[in-house]
Amino acid sequence: MGNCCRRPARCAHVASPDSQTSHPMKEIFFIQETSNPQSGKTSSTTTKSNVSPSSGLMSYNFNDLRNVTGNFKTSNLIGEGGFGQVFKGWIDESTLATSRQGVGMVVAIKKLDPESFQGHKEWLAEVNYLGHLNHENLVKLVGYCSESKYRLLVYEYMPRGSLENHLFRKSVQPIRWATRMNIAIGIARGLSFLHSLKTQVIYRDLKSSNILLDSDFNAKLSDFGFARDGPVGDKTHVSTRVLGTGGYAAPEYIATGHLSTKSDVYSFGVVLLELLSGRRALDDRVGESNLVDWSRPFISDRKRILRIMDTRLCGQYSKNEAQTAAALAVNCLNLDARIRPSMTEVFTTLEQFRTPNDYLRTQSREPGRSCNKSPPSFNYKTTPNRNTNLNKM
Ligand SMILES: Nc1ncnc2c1ncn2[C@@H]1O[C@H](COP(=O)(O)OP(=O)(O)O)[C@@H](O)[C@H]1O
Ligand SMILES: [Mg+2]
Repeated sequence: MGNCCRRPARCAHVASPDSQTSHPMKEIFFIQETSNPQSGKTSSTTTKSNVSPSSGLMSYNFNDLRNVTGNFKTSNLIGEGGFGQVFKGWIDESTLATSRQGVGMVVAIKKLDPESFQGHKEWLAEVNYLGHLNHENLVKLVGYCSESKYRLLVYEYMPRGSLENHLFRKSVQPIRWATRMNIAIGIARGLSFLHSLKTQVIYRDLKSSNILLDSDFNAKLSDFGFARDGPVGDKTHVSTRVLGTGGYAAPEYIATGHLSTKSDVYSFGVVLLELLSGRRALDDRVGESNLVDWSRPFISDRKRILRIMDTRLCGQYSKNEAQTAAALAVNCLNLDARIRPSMTEVFTTLEQFRTPNDYLRTQSREPGRSCNKSPPSFNYKTTPNRNTNLNKM
C-alpha cells in the first residue's frame, strides 16, 4: 500500500522501488541542461551539487519571502495544490530581489508543506527541470528558497490562473472555442518540446490545474514536481512509482508503473476532452464520474461527437474543428499506448486551428452572453465510492 497524499485527487504511491528518482534529502541533484527551444536539442548530465549560479536562479531568504507575502496572509493566497499553497509576492524587476508588498513585479510564491517528505522531492524536481528548461509554454522559475525545513519556489505570475478555474468555476466567464483551441495547441507544444529533448522529460502530471494562463490566455505547463527523465537508448519506458492524479493518469502506467511519453499523451487526451466538454476528468459531485468512460461512446462516433460539447459554448464553435479535436482525443486515449500519436503529431494536427491572439483580442470574450448556460455535470449514476487511489484504479 502506498501513502496517500493530503489532497485525495493527487496521490503518490510506492508501487515499485524508484531508485533513479530518490534523491538524498541533504543534497541537491540537478540536471545541467542547455536547451534550444527551436531545435529542441539539449545536452544533459546529472550531477550532484548545490543549486549553482549557472542555473540562473535567484536564491531567496525565507524571511524576505515571508515579508513580501505579508507573512503568507490569506488575501495573498492565489492557489493551492497537492503539496503547498501559492501566494502573491513582489520582486524588483531589474535585480529580482524581493521588494515590498505591492511594489515592483508580481510573482507567485509556492510554499511547500515543511513537514512533507514528498514536498521536498517535488521542490527538487521543480528546481531541476524548470531551473534549466526554457520554453514559451513552460512557466518560468525565478528562484527558490531552501532554508532549514522550508522549501519555496518563486515563479513568474500567471495573471489568469489555472485552466481548471476557467473551465469549471461557476463565477468565471466561460472561455470561447478559439481560445480553447489555442490553449490545447500551447499545451501540445510544451509537451512536444519536453518529449523532443535529447534526454526526454516526461511531465507525468498533466491536468487542468497545472496549466496556467497568461494575460492573453497562452498556456504554460507549471508544477514539475512529478516530472522525470524518460527512457534512454532503445527503451520505450521507465519503471517507476505510480504518481499522478486520478482521472488523468494513463491506465497502463497505473497498472504496471511503466511510464513513457505516451502516458503524457493519454493525459493530454483527457485535458482535450475537458476543453471540449467543460466537464471534469473526475467529477466527485455525482459519485465517481469518469469523463473518459462517459465520453467514449460519443467521441468514437463522428455523428455523436457533438453531444459531448460544452453547452456554455452556446453552439459557437466550428463543427469540423470539434470533430477533428474529438477524433484526436480518441487516438490519444487509445488503451494501447503504442498506437497513441506523439505529442509532435498532436501539435501538428491542432496547429492548423490556431487563431492569432491579436484577432481574439478584438473580439468579445464571452462565447455567447445570450445562452447563459451553467457548467455541465454528469447526470447519470456511477459507482458510489469515489476512488482516487491510483493503485486501486
Ligand atoms: N505562477 C503562478 N501564477 C498564478 N497562479 C499560480 C502559479 N503557480 C500556481 N498557481 C496557482 O496555484 C495552484 C497550485 O499550484 P501548483 O504549482 O500546481 O501546486 P502543487 O504543486 O501543490 O500542486 C495552481 O492550480 C494555480 O491556481
Ligand atoms: Mg499542481
